Amino acid sequence: MASKLPDATKGLGAGGMDVEDGSGGGGGGKKVAGRWPGFVHFFFVLTVVTCALVYAPRFLSPTVPVDFLGPRQPSSGGDALVLDNQVNSPCASMGAHGICCDRSDFNTDVCFMAGEVRTDAASLSFLLFPPQAPNGTANDANATVAEKEERVRPYTRKWEKHLMANIQEVRLRAARPDEADAHRCDVRHDAPALVMTAGGYTGNLFHAFNDGFLPAWLTVQHLRRRVVLAVLAYNPWWAGTFRELVSGLSDHHVIDLLHDKRTHCFPGAIVGTRFHGILAVEPARTKDNRTLVDFHDFLAGGYKDDSTPPEATQQQQQPRRPRLGLYSRKGTRVIENEAAVARLAESVGFDVSILETANGAPLSSEYAAVSACDVLVGVHGADLTKLLFLRPRRAALLQIAPLGVPHVARGCYEKATAMMEMQYEQYDAAANESSLVRKYPADDVVLRDPEAATRERGWDLTARVYLGGQNVSLDLGRFGDTLRRLHSRALRLPVAGP
Ligand SMILES: *[C@@H]1O[C@H](CO)[C@@H](O)[C@H](O)[C@H]1NC(C)=O
Ligand SMILES: *[C@@H]1O[C@H](CO)[C@@H](O)[C@H](O)[C@H]1NC(C)=O
Ligand SMILES: *[C@@H]1O[C@H](CO)[C@@H](O)[C@H](O)[C@H]1NC(C)=O
Ligand SMILES: *[C@@H]1O[C@H](CO)[C@@H](O)[C@H](O)[C@H]1NC(C)=O
Ligand SMILES: *[C@@H]1O[C@H](CO)[C@@H](O)[C@H](O)[C@H]1NC(C)=O
Repeated sequence: MASKLPDATKGLGAGGMDVEDGSGGGGGGKKVAGRWPGFVHFFFVLTVVTCALVYAPRFLSPTVPVDFLGPRQPSSGGDALVLDNQVNSPCASMGAHGICCDRSDFNTDVCFMAGEVRTDAASLSFLLFPPQAPNGTANDANATVAEKEERVRPYTRKWEKHLMANIQEVRLRAARPDEADAHRCDVRHDAPALVMTAGGYTGNLFHAFNDGFLPAWLTVQHLRRRVVLAVLAYNPWWAGTFRELVSGLSDHHVIDLLHDKRTHCFPGAIVGTRFHGILAVEPARTKDNRTLVDFHDFLAGGYKDDSTPPEATQQQQQPRRPRLGLYSRKGTRVIENEAAVARLAESVGFDVSILETANGAPLSSEYAAVSACDVLVGVHGADLTKLLFLRPRRAALLQIAPLGVPHVARGCYEKATAMMEMQYEQYDAAANESSLVRKYPADDVVLRDPEAATRERGWDLTARVYLGGQNVSLDLGRFGDTLRRLHSRALRLPVAGP
């Protein structure tokens, strides 16, 4: 379990990204440690978190809506800065001055402010000032701005109350013209702000992408990096670990929103991020038809993936040996006969790379290792989020589902794999492949009928036993059949090119 946690100490020194630091003067490591007293706190939670937690409320309470809205018609945009890229959003047609919140989504609230926005650090507020008349006086022509203050916690798990309570609440309101003097701009930006958080479950790779970067990309990719990230719970681990993604989203310095006490001024702001489903991009919901393949291309750009695939230079070599990456987990959901499985894959005709989970390697090198694979294999867990690094349309994901969690496993990664136009295979471990045979008698319901056991004992059984207390030892005969199928598929694909 501990191996899932990022090395916070190392992370402190690894902040390779520019940060607009509003505290002014006095650098040094000592100060850094003091400025983020709580930032390791949220990693703590992660020991019990998996992608599957997304499913906890959904599987266990049938009343919760799961489906997303179907295709909608684009609406025409104005000539003003287009903040909201979502088709048919109530905010898509907002004018050049106003505040609009879209709270219609099950997972997330997003608010937009068009016009002159200034921060008020003391109250964690974004204030919208009325348009200025040409000669500089405040123009009190009726602004179309509601009197009501809007509040939003910018994170994509609205339904998870205890977590959302830890996400800071950002306030948005119209300012009176006479407040301008008390909020003079210390820093003027020529791009709108996106307020997001580096908190929540961001220390877990699945959540970092699913709750954080994919939603952020969905929300601002249409601005083409002309956006300033104003980040809550900013911390050097986040900045260092995801530096390529941060600079891929924005051309500007990041603002550490909770510590920067200056007044920042923007020509607009977006507070919160869009969410289209688990590792999902729904093209029909974006005005520019974006897909998960576009998000992969965004990652590829960040990790500078301009190398040609290895096959391109080895076209003459016969027969080709496709590459299989095998994720090696530690602690739980371990493949106990991993060495034999790797030998099996070699004998089937793959070149095998053993990929380590959470070994502290930078994501760019993880990207390089995974994107070189034709097939990525792993037992259900957060590292399979790296399917986003695989080559769209070519690669395959083979997920091994431990006993009792086939639906959870499928729910986390099947749809994303399809959205990348890749092959998805799932290998469901049988009872005799599970380490639980050592713990439960053969006729126990936990082994005999996991679905019934889960219905009886609930999410706790899934989390503690099936996810937290199980290893697998794969049946080499049956697993070999799956590998052979994926191997012949890989050979059938054209050698190089998209
Ligand atoms: C410019 O300022 C004067 C007052 O100083 C005001 O009477 C006038 O309406 C303003 N002009 C415009 C275009 O707002
Ligand atoms: C402001 O609002 C009032 C009433 O709401 C209206 O009569 C007036 O024409 C508006 N003024 C402008 C400049 O829009
Ligand atoms: C989005 O895709 C649909 C279907 O492929 C197409 O009809 C539509 O024109 C596309 N829209 C844009 C803005 O590219
Ligand atoms: C394991 O169980 C499956 C059925 O679930 C069976 O087909 C297979 O033969 C068993 N393997 C062994 C080694 O007992
Ligand atoms: C799973 O395997 C790991 C590593 O071999 C071991 O530490 C752990 O105790 C095993 N868990 C179970 C439930 O057997």
